[in-house]
Amino acid sequence: MDIVPLGFAAELRGVTLAEIAADDAAYTATRAAFEEHSVLIFRGQQVTDAAQLAFARRFGPLEVTKVGSRGAGTNLVILSTIDENGKVVPADHRFALSNKANQLWHTDSTFKKVPALASVLSARVIPARGGETEYVSTRLAWERLDPALRRRLENSFAWHDYAHSRGKIAADLASAEERAALPPQCWRMAWKNPANGRNALYIASHAYAIEGMKEDAAQKLLAELIDAATAPGLTYLHTWRQGDVVMWDNRATLHRGRPWLPHEPRFMVRTTISATEADGLESVRPPSRQAAE
Ligand code: OGA
Ligand code: MN
Repeated sequence: MDIVPLGFAAELRGVTLAEIAADDAAYTATRAAFEEHSVLIFRGQQVTDAAQLAFARRFGPLEVTKVGSRGAGTNLVILSTIDENGKVVPADHRFALSNKANQLWHTDSTFKKVPALASVLSARVIPARGGETEYVSTRLAWERLDPALRRRLENSFAWHDYAHSRGKIAADLASAEERAALPPQCWRMAWKNPANGRNALYIASHAYAIEGMKEDAAQKLLAELIDAATAPGLTYLHTWRQGDVVMWDNRATLHRGRPWLPHEPRFMVRTTISATEADGLESVRPPSRQAAE
């Protein structure tokens, strides 16, 4: 296996998802690269749902897809503008609007009761142009922050709500069923990786408030932090090819989808791995909830 750095991210060459799923040494090397690089790229894979699921399962428990998403109740999330009949949906369709919400800088599942360690995304149908996925390291963003702000954020807790990020796209994009299933969640604004002791800024498009701060000031700070973290020149832009799989660390990155021509089809499949105590989950829980769970 060769690890080829691409900025903070890395491409893993000479290894398949199936080998990593089956082989302890390949898994251990991949896991170490994941802890170090935060975004791993695999090219030329023979991707099937089964292969993607087996690979993702190696890293921890899989998320069950939430109500209201395509793939609900399974371990797969379908991100696509192609409907059940193979037709591309119009730009105001819920599927298209959901993709648009993914074009806001975010990290996955901060709005869930159990946040995500990692996501694994494969490209099944790609548009001719656009539709890239862009990443930044919030570990590097953390290291660029003023030390006094870092000390403050280490003891700050942000509230995350799925309905908040969806509301930026369309007022009713989050359904009543989704709102009921996904009450807001509160997490420390820094996630320390227990494998290397390095902190990362933990924020997302879903964050709407900070404990103990006025709403306006909190939203201003959240926007400033995201802007600083995602400034031009700091990102890794992944241009998808058939057979590509990208895995990212939701504790230490932000990502967003990029637009493409709306009449062109795009079909992506995601598996998501839940964070466990071994991944530092306890340390992001607000103190009031640490003893209770
Ligand atoms: C995701 C996501 C963006 C994209 O899979 O979690 O945000 O480019 N995807 O589809
Ligand atoms: Mn996402």
